[in-house]
Amino acid sequence: MYFYSMKEIKQFIENNNDRILNELFDLLKIKSVSADSNYKNEVKDAAIFLKNNFKEIGCDNIEIIETAGHPIVYAEKIISENAPTILVYGHYDVQPADPIELWDNPPFDPIIKKTKNHPNGAIYARGACDDKGQMFMHLKAFEFMKEFDKLKCNIKFMIEGEEEVGSLNLEKFLIENKNKLANDVILISDTGMIANDIPSITTGLRGLSYVEVEVTGPDRDLHSGLYGGTVANPINILSKMISSLHDENSKITIPGFYDKVSEMTEEERIEVSKIPFSKDNYQSEIGIDSTYGEAGYVTNERNSYRPTLDVNGIWGGYTGEGAKTVIPSKAFAKISMRLVPNQKSENITNLFNDHFKKIAPKGVKVKVTPHHGGEGYVTKTDSIEYLAAERAYLEAFGSKPIAQRSGGSIPIVPLFEKVLNSKSVLMGFGLDSDAIHSPNEHFGLFNFFKGIETIPLFYKHYFDLWQENKSK
Ligand code: BES
Ligand code: MN
Ligand code: MN
Repeated sequence: MYFYSMKEIKQFIENNNDRILNELFDLLKIKSVSADSNYKNEVKDAAIFLKNNFKEIGCDNIEIIETAGHPIVYAEKIISENAPTILVYGHYDVQPADPIELWDNPPFDPIIKKTKNHPNGAIYARGACDDKGQMFMHLKAFEFMKEFDKLKCNIKFMIEGEEEVGSLNLEKFLIENKNKLANDVILISDTGMIANDIPSITTGLRGLSYVEVEVTGPDRDLHSGLYGGTVANPINILSKMISSLHDENSKITIPGFYDKVSEMTEEERIEVSKIPFSKDNYQSEIGIDSTYGEAGYVTNERNSYRPTLDVNGIWGGYTGEGAKTVIPSKAFAKISMRLVPNQKSENITNLFNDHFKKIAPKGVKVKVTPHHGGEGYVTKTDSIEYLAAERAYLEAFGSKPIAQRSGGSIPIVPLFEKVLNSKSVLMGFGLDSDAIHSPNEHFGLFNFFKGIETIPLFYKHYFDLWQENKSK
């Protein structure tokens, strides 16, 4: 049974448009960079902002829960023992803003500007899309449901401050608070969709292995004339080792790397081929004249169904002004591997470690340090939560959403399943072109408000499907 119409949500948004935007702007002004300990107080301020907003919108049992790292904000509204419970997860921490000089406007001074993909304007600020803007849609959707007495599901909010640094303290919190967090399904807006007129629901996330490597040659920098040609240069060696990690078909050469990878089925390849995709747009949006990648797969397969290995940073030796003739003592690199279902992060990290040490020539020492990682996740498309999301998008956007796996990672999502036995539904409203983690991150006004419209419809359809399911 329908218990409200689109008209009421649209009216709510229209009446409260400016206030809602002002609130989001205030949140975006807070420099909640979780990776940098200089911003510890600002991260806390963002948690306090949320606590206050939860109070204003009428949540109960609002708490700021301290962890060994940054705090978790919890709030809930329990309306009935006989209603389903939705746990909303999101994060209020953001990536560092640097390189700051590449921003057209200051990253923590939100501003609205029009873009090609957002002709009605987009909010420019670090965290606008990932994930403050998307997370905040849920508070405002709740506010609407509460104010108009449309709440049919219990809601629990769990908003963390450490997603961008690996959610290391959240797992412990899950284990210790299983009852408090008990739910029927977890709802997350921290992913993207295809285009503003092509809604999609994310049905997969990749896992992640992340390592830092250090190659050491001589115990100090040497004169490159006196020693040139007689010792292993760590940067030369590291470059060679890294380039050997892919073959001429861009396949990863680490023995065993693909052993557990589920090969795409013919049906999956057909589904992917139906996803609207313009190669020209894809290329021009990021300023390249050709895509590049694993032979035998198209771009939309390479970025979701296939695992990868990428150098994220590489350094060593002299990089200052002018020339300095040295053979450096050390070279470093940070390397990430995106993983797909059945690959295990720990196992891949071990395979990398063994292989990388094995391919090092005599004359250098190699150290491999693992960083945080996580497993991939795939959702079904015949669950009541997927169907509820599908109906919500259909109603809000006027077209059926496409199921699409994403290439990104949210390592806590598989842990929700493992620890809480909960499935997640990924209703993301960002676009790939929104520049998350990059300079000039932004989030479309259309996307923000469409999210606020779509979320209450999810609750409505979820409630109906849950009830149908129960009475079966
Ligand atoms: N929200 C992103 C992940 C994402 C973005 C998934 C777009 C799908 C589409 C999240 O905040 C993130 O950045 N995750 C990191 C991993 C984390 C361990 C730092 C990532 O994917 O690199
Ligand atoms: Mn995120
Ligand atoms: Mn992120």
